[in-house]
Amino acid sequence: MNYRHAFHAGNFADVLKHFVLTRVLVHLQQKPTAFRAIDTHAGLGFYDLMGDEAGRTGEWHEGWGRLEDAFADEIEALLDPYRAAVASVRARHGETIYPGSPAIIREFLRPGDQGVFVELHPDDAETLRARYNQDARTKVMHLDGWTALNALIPPPERRGLVLIDPPYEEAGEIDRLGASLAKAVAKWPTGIYLAWYPIKDVAAIDRMVAELHRALDRPALRLDLMVSEPDPTRLNGNGLIVVNPPWKLAEEAGLFLPALAERLARRDYGAFRCVPFGAEG
Ligand SMILES: C[S@@+](CC[C@H](N)C(=O)[O-])C[C@H]1O[C@@H](n2cnc3c(N)ncnc32)[C@H](O)[C@@H]1O
Repeated sequence: MNYRHAFHAGNFADVLKHFVLTRVLVHLQQKPTAFRAIDTHAGLGFYDLMGDEAGRTGEWHEGWGRLEDAFADEIEALLDPYRAAVASVRARHGETIYPGSPAIIREFLRPGDQGVFVELHPDDAETLRARYNQDARTKVMHLDGWTALNALIPPPERRGLVLIDPPYEEAGEIDRLGASLAKAVAKWPTGIYLAWYPIKDVAAIDRMVAELHRALDRPALRLDLMVSEPDPTRLNGNGLIVVNPPWKLAEEAGLFLPALAERLARRDYGAFRCVPFGAEG
């Protein structure tokens, strides 16, 4: 396990992933019924952008760092919960901190809601435990995320989301994502799933989505964001599959994807797509 998220915290991929995560959490908060958020590849919880690792790559400058200037009001309204979550985590842990998915999820948990953070790296799992095991609303598990995905669904609340955010260190992980997602949705058809993928080989993503389309009897969205032209050797884009998307998410994505593509483009190339697939909602 070589992947260390601290080098990449707050980059353009984190921005898309965490922004969409907050839109789903806002949706879940709209009903008083308790929900559970399961994070299968959780990382450390939060990161210091002035720390050694993030400082060495400087990736966050082309991600969170580009969000400093305000967008148009309609985009800011959608961004507000994300900005508020970052501000709240910073107020608690320091002004140079960027939250990972566990810290963001925690910001949205009400009494009775649950966050389950799964991490396989022993050191990271230990850090996560120290950070989140005192809170009655959050639980850390030192486990393989793919095993956890199958074991932890459906949750007792029967309401909530699963974030699947693997490191893609091994060949074939894109196909594994699609297959695992199809299996999970068959086991818990009403959960909201957010599955992140890097875009290097666009054809591999197209294939995975086509297979998932055949396998799913639930609605899904493919949200892609490119910040440079696709290149098989570089992380120039990323995307999320959202299964059972909140009913307004496609409309929201129609606003925020073009705005992010423009703001996060490395030179003059920024592109996006928002494609519904699976069964009709
Ligand atoms: C992309 S990072 C997660 C970032 C985090 N979700 C966030 O948004 O802040 C991927 C994480 O998965 C962990 N990991 C790698 N293989 C795993 C596995 N089989 N099961 C669970 N976690 C794994 C890595 O140690 C790393 O912390």
